[in-house]
Amino acid sequence: MRQAGRYLPEYREIRSKVSFLELTKTPELCAEVTLQPIDRLDVDAAILFSDILVVFDAMGVDVHFNPAPEIERPVRTAADVARLRWGDPREDVRYVLDAVQACKRALAERVPLIGFCGAPFTTLSYLVEGKGSRDYQHIKGMMFSEPALFHRLMESMTELLCTYLGGQVEAGVDALQVFDSWAGALSPADYREHVWPHMRRLVEHVRTLGVPLIAFVRGNANLLQQSAELGADVIGVDWTIDFAQAIEIVGSDRVVQGNLDPQILLGPEELIERRARAVLDAAKGARAHIFNLGHGISRYTDPAKARLLVDVVHGYGA
Ligand code: CP3
Repeated sequence: MRQAGRYLPEYREIRSKVSFLELTKTPELCAEVTLQPIDRLDVDAAILFSDILVVFDAMGVDVHFNPAPEIERPVRTAADVARLRWGDPREDVRYVLDAVQACKRALAERVPLIGFCGAPFTTLSYLVEGKGSRDYQHIKGMMFSEPALFHRLMESMTELLCTYLGGQVEAGVDALQVFDSWAGALSPADYREHVWPHMRRLVEHVRTLGVPLIAFVRGNANLLQQSAELGADVIGVDWTIDFAQAIEIVGSDRVVQGNLDPQILLGPEELIERRARAVLDAAKGARAHIFNLGHGISRYTDPAKARLLVDVVHGYGA
């Protein structure tokens, strides 16, 4: 959950010299940044430093980061759609796969490396909205008024992302995470009808790749049941739901990841310790648990507090 990022002074140091996009396109720097939290925090896995939106390079779509992403020409009309290119991310986003290899070399098997992509709906939403959104009027407008076009775009996007994830596995990632960060924009019925079947296809494809998959469907506790039904190895749980309740919904036979509110790290040490333990206590009801934040870490987090959190988790039950 953005464990490499702006809350780390060593990350800001590198970012003072290169832009975010240059950073994502320079494999050796990606590896350096990916490893920064491993050294400082002692976390048990590395997540590839990149972004879900760089895949637009395979579609001929320009995106800028300032630092929030913005697309120059959002895809809204039939003519916009006709202009899209559906390239091969293994070629057009080769720099990400090179970054995977650089990370693996630099990690030297110290911890596993997690690759990732945005889910079809979240990725397509950025393409259509052009930037972060409050009401998602363009993507939902397309979904409701031109369902056939929406469906076709979701199919093409899913295929592109499957190829991309396959490339990441070939390049050496040990696990994959899919971020459906914008799923909460939809009602459960609309997620079921318009999004779930595409996600399911992606999950089934990843099953053939031979690495475990974490599915993170964010923003709506009402989608947790559907998220579990995707059949991914690990069900990511965001911070908005009580963890014990989440485990009850997905079933005690499933592996869960989550779900501390990242902003808790802005609080005092005593609170961090207490809330982390509450998550770990609740997780006893699950088959297995990957401790994690329930969304991206805040840039205002004191790295010492993040380290304290890791130490609390590692010391739990010892
Ligand atoms: O988790 C990690 O440590 C790996 C790196 C990673 C980044 N983005 C780095 C990043 C990952 C996994 C992502 C995924 C991502 N990107 C998602 C899905 C996860 C989520 O947060 O829901 C989304 C929606 C994006 C799109 C995106 N990229 C946004 C909204 C922003 C702005 C973030 C902000 O805090 O302002 C980015 C830029 C971005 N991606 C940064 C980082 C470290 C900050 C850029 C900078 O250094 O200036």
